[in-house]
Amino acid sequence: MPQYFGQLHTTEAPWSILGAVQAIQQNERHILLLCGDPCLIVSVLAPNLIRVRMAPSGEFLSRRSWAVALADEEWPTVPFEVRETAETIEIETEQLSIVVSRDPCRIQCFDSVGQPFAQDTDLGMGWRTGEVAGWKRIESDEHFYGFGEPTGLLDQRSKVKTNWASDAIDYGIMTDSMYQAIPFFIALRPGLGYGLFFNTTYWSRFDLGAQQPGVWQMETQGSELDYYIIYGPEPAKIIQTYTQLTGRMPLPPRWSLGYHQCRWSYESQDIVRKLADEFRQRRIPCDVIHLDIDYMNSYRVFTWSPKRFADPQKLIGNLKQDGFKVVTIVDPGVKYEPEADYKVFDEGLKNNYFIRKTNGQLFHGYVWPDKAVFPDYLRPEVRDWWGNWQKSLTDIGVAGIWNDMNEPALDDRPFGDPGDKISFPLDAPQGPIEEITTHKEVHNLYGLMMAQASYQGAKISRPTERSFILTRSGYAGIQRWSAIWTGDNQSLWEHLEMSIPMLCNLGLSGIPFVGSDIGGFAGNATAELYARWMQLGMLYPLMRGHSALTTAQHEPWVFGDRIEKICREYIELRYQLLPYIYTLFWLAATTGAPILRPLLYDFPNDPKTFSLADQVMLGPSLLAAPIYRPGVEHRAVYLPEGCWYDWWSGETFIGPIHILAYAPLEKMPLYVRAGSIIAIAPVMQYVDEHPINQMRLRIWKGVGEFTLYEDDGHTFEYKTGAFCTTTYHVYSEQQRTIVEIAAREGEFSPITRETIVELVGVGEQSFVDNGTAHRLEFST
Ligand code: NOJ
Repeated sequence: MPQYFGQLHTTEAPWSILGAVQAIQQNERHILLLCGDPCLIVSVLAPNLIRVRMAPSGEFLSRRSWAVALADEEWPTVPFEVRETAETIEIETEQLSIVVSRDPCRIQCFDSVGQPFAQDTDLGMGWRTGEVAGWKRIESDEHFYGFGEPTGLLDQRSKVKTNWASDAIDYGIMTDSMYQAIPFFIALRPGLGYGLFFNTTYWSRFDLGAQQPGVWQMETQGSELDYYIIYGPEPAKIIQTYTQLTGRMPLPPRWSLGYHQCRWSYESQDIVRKLADEFRQRRIPCDVIHLDIDYMNSYRVFTWSPKRFADPQKLIGNLKQDGFKVVTIVDPGVKYEPEADYKVFDEGLKNNYFIRKTNGQLFHGYVWPDKAVFPDYLRPEVRDWWGNWQKSLTDIGVAGIWNDMNEPALDDRPFGDPGDKISFPLDAPQGPIEEITTHKEVHNLYGLMMAQASYQGAKISRPTERSFILTRSGYAGIQRWSAIWTGDNQSLWEHLEMSIPMLCNLGLSGIPFVGSDIGGFAGNATAELYARWMQLGMLYPLMRGHSALTTAQHEPWVFGDRIEKICREYIELRYQLLPYIYTLFWLAATTGAPILRPLLYDFPNDPKTFSLADQVMLGPSLLAAPIYRPGVEHRAVYLPEGCWYDWWSGETFIGPIHILAYAPLEKMPLYVRAGSIIAIAPVMQYVDEHPINQMRLRIWKGVGEFTLYEDDGHTFEYKTGAFCTTTYHVYSEQQRTIVEIAAREGEFSPITRETIVELVGVGEQSFVDNGTAHRLEFST
């Protein structure tokens, strides 16, 4: 636990509670309720989005530069009615109503048929020295999701979730604070779901019924209670609105959807070159090689080891010819090295870019380069400077940046000595002069701001190429800048299993581009664990294998022929599914929809899905039931309502049903919803090996629709219209199944290709696809 953590806690003094409404004022967006000194603002931002702010002092903070992507004034005004009675003030939008009782001032929400949600308890809203809090009722059948990357189960009801970005090394099912601090959740019960974004960057905490069953609490060390209620009723709508508020993922380069290989570390350019050769010789597809900290010269950020990586430009150029992209790790800690001609340090010092203590002294901690100082990414000029240094990497061909240790993670004494993890002093000043604050307010933003610097820097140095940014830490809105991975997991079956709810909760937190280290980071995977992990990893939006220093090698071929074959097949399947997956990325970029998601996302009215943490969906069509225990060859699978097909055998099942799946090591149970249309590319060794000259549409009988998205995969031209979509429909007419392919829409033209339409279990037809409409019939 960081040394300064203790200072965060205040007394257990009793709460002062919000009293009666004494006066009300209103304009076209806000309703101001004066309750003596304290006051409350209820703002209607959209028919399903309400912001509530309560300032005990009566004074509201001004907007911060790092605040939500869409400010109150940027939402178009929407109609709502305010009705006053002797006891209440009712605010009604097209989708919900908020009833504010006057004495005491408490808030209750209702959907259009009068079902209550997000109702204040008797306590309602309160404050005490250094803290504000709110209390709301938990409905009996309510479940809680999101919170970034919580460990343990999918549903977080009865847990305490602290939002304080932490180096969660050795995390397990009981770990609370994680790398990501995302104060957002979705509360779901059959027929009704709402989201709650607790708009505070300070230390904050949700108690989801741990202290008092039936009551959830939000608490922060900020000076006002500020939260958004997002009515669904379904998770898709909640996430759509939440990502309108906090921003969405930009479309990443298509190559970043391929397989990534990483290790701490591939220690020299020769080793990296050999690694790349192995992939190509063994015909195991791979797009990206990550370089961990040992590429640097004694861990000095933005340098290369002259011994081990003597000619990085040549290495990267050479790898490029074989279709590999290189991603380098970039840590925030800058080696403290006065008078050594280390320019990053010298410039940062000269321009006063590093975080200082209140007494003006440089703050330092110990991390890889030993004594290190830390840029204040909250300041735009520091982000620009950092982005400019990143150019030294991208100019020689680096295609992506991996930000690590940015919670920040550091020790209070040299590595190797038994020390304590610390954070920056909570009173350390941070931010630009106009909005200077202390670390206490912005601790949770360190990773977010570093990722922003990386993204924007990459955009400037590679103006026509999309870059791949990966970060360990983040705050709400991190999806705007970066993909994330779940940090230092372990080579344990439990961690393989836990990656499912962790990644699902990330998706439900508005962060679609996510992955866990395949094979496990710490420890040694067994052959069986590795194979099972590769099978599940094939579905991770970010598919990256990684392993720690001193652990056994974790490449797809190290466990012998049988495992290598399994890895090859599943990585190949990933590449075959790329047209489908890339379309899911486009949907995520335009609507916020998670790519990998729990079943409750697509089946929010089926309570059987609410706790289902060991099955997962890749988009709306594919349902996987991975094996996550050794020696297991059978498992129960729940298939919700509808008709389902076994991906491998074509066998049909009518849901809702539980089945027992047979899954020898070669097989991960995988199912497809009836009416699904999945676009499949030929096997390739890397994403841009050649343009897709043959597209197979695998279609499973039923009624369905799919819109395929395509663009050039690597520039920003899609933003100005250089993309295209093709919509496919499938349905039945008497004894026939009809497949309709609408004319391609949009400015981008893929090469003329063969399209094979396969009606699974029935037959296939093909045509030369130049974008015109087609109607195919299959006798069934
Ligand atoms: C910690 C990161 O979580 C891990 O992925 C990385 O390999 C090590 N730091 C070394 O850079």
